[in-house]
Amino acid sequence: MGKILLKNGEVLGPDGQVNKADLAIVDAVIDQVGTALDDWQADQVIDCTDKLIMPGLVNTHTHAAMTLFRSYADDMALMDWLQNKIWPAEDKLTSDDVYWGTQLAIAEMLKTGTTTFADMYSFMDDVAKAVEETGIRAVLSRGMIGVGPNAALALAESKSLYTDWHNGAEGRITVMLGPHAPYTCPPDYLKTVSALAEQLGAEIHIHLSETAGEVEECIKQYGKSPIALMNEVGLLDCGVLAAHCVHVSAEDISIMQKKMVRVAHNPGSNMKLASGVAPVPAMLEAGLVVGLGTDGASSNNNLDMLEELRLAALLHKVNTLNPVAIPAKEALAMATANGAAAVGLGKVTGKIAAGYQADIAIFSMKEPHWYPRHNRVSLLTYAANSADVDTVLVAGKVLLSNRKLTTIDEERIYSEVQQRGLKLEK
Ligand code: NI
Repeated sequence: MGKILLKNGEVLGPDGQVNKADLAIVDAVIDQVGTALDDWQADQVIDCTDKLIMPGLVNTHTHAAMTLFRSYADDMALMDWLQNKIWPAEDKLTSDDVYWGTQLAIAEMLKTGTTTFADMYSFMDDVAKAVEETGIRAVLSRGMIGVGPNAALALAESKSLYTDWHNGAEGRITVMLGPHAPYTCPPDYLKTVSALAEQLGAEIHIHLSETAGEVEECIKQYGKSPIALMNEVGLLDCGVLAAHCVHVSAEDISIMQKKMVRVAHNPGSNMKLASGVAPVPAMLEAGLVVGLGTDGASSNNNLDMLEELRLAALLHKVNTLNPVAIPAKEALAMATANGAAAVGLGKVTGKIAAGYQADIAIFSMKEPHWYPRHNRVSLLTYAANSADVDTVLVAGKVLLSNRKLTTIDEERIYSEVQQRGLKLEK
C-alpha cells in the first residue's frame, strides 16, 4: 500500500478511450490520472511502458468452489447435470473443500485480470476467509434452497453472513442474499427472503429464467413467468442481480426495466449447458444494466473473463445476424463498469478515474496478437489473451506482479484441490 505510481502506460478511460497517462494511487484509491505526474512522490513506481492499464474485470456470477468439479461432468444439459452429477457430489463437500476450491478460483481470476467476483455457494464463511486472505474483492451470497431440511438453516446462515461480513475485509466484501432460483425456492420462502432482505438492507442474487423448461414449468405451476412471479412475491423490490435471464419475454423485460433488475449474462455457461441465447440486445435497448459472468467452473470450465467478453461480443452477432448487436466497446463496458454496477459496486470499482478503488489489470502488449494497434478496445475484446495479464492490483495492493501471485501459494492449492476434487467423484 502507500503511494504507487503507474508510469508510461496507456490507460483505458471511463469513456472507452485509451490515452497515454500516468496513474497515481494513494492507499486503496486512484488519486490522479494525468500526464504531468513526474514530480509525484511515490513509494513504488511500476513502469508500464508498452502496457495497457484497464479496470480489473468484474465477474458478476460465480460459484467459485465449483472449480473442484472442473472436468468432472461435461456435455450434459443443465437439469441432468445438476440432478445426477453436481448435487450428489456437492452433498459431500466440506468447509475445507470450499475454502481450497475458492482459493483455486481466486488464483485463476487474478491471473486472468479479474478483481471482483459475485459468488453464490455454501460454507460462505470459508469463501469470505479466502477473499480476506488473498486480497481480491467479492460480493458474497449464501445459496439458499427453499425446500428440504436446510431451508431454515440457509436463511439463518445468510443472516449471519451479512452480519459478520458485509463491508468486511477492509470493505472488500459486500453481502447479498442468494435464493438459488424459483424452481428451488417456493413463493412463500421467497417472501421470507424478501422480508429478511428488507430488514437487513441487503440486495438479492438469484438465477432467473435460465432454461426454457424452467419457464414452462413455472407457467404451468403458477400461471406466470419466473420474472412475473418474482415481481408478485416482492423479490424485485429489494434490488436484484439476476443471473442468466435467457428465456425472458418482452413483458418480462418491461418488468425488469421498471424494477431496475441488473443482469449477469453468462454466454459461456449458457452455450455449454445448451440453455440458449439471452436477448441481451433487447435488454440493453430497454436500458437494463448487464454485466458478464462465467458461472461455476464446471458449467463453463474456466473463470476467464476475457473469454466471456469475447463470447459476449460474438454470440449475438451469430444469433441476430446483426454485426453491431454488441460492439466491442459495449462488451468491454459489460465486463468492467456495467458489471460493477450490476453487483452494486458502480461507484466503487470498474473504472479508472480519481476516487475509484485501485482495482486494476495491466496487460503486456508484447505479443504478436497486439499488432498493429489500430484500436485498443478491439484488441482487448477480440485479440487479447489472459496470459497477457502481467500485473493486478486490488484496492491499491499488488496481488499479481510479473504474473506471480503475491498472496497465494499456488503449489499448495494444486496439491489440495487435486486430492479433494478426486475424492468428491467417488
Ligand atoms: Ni449459476
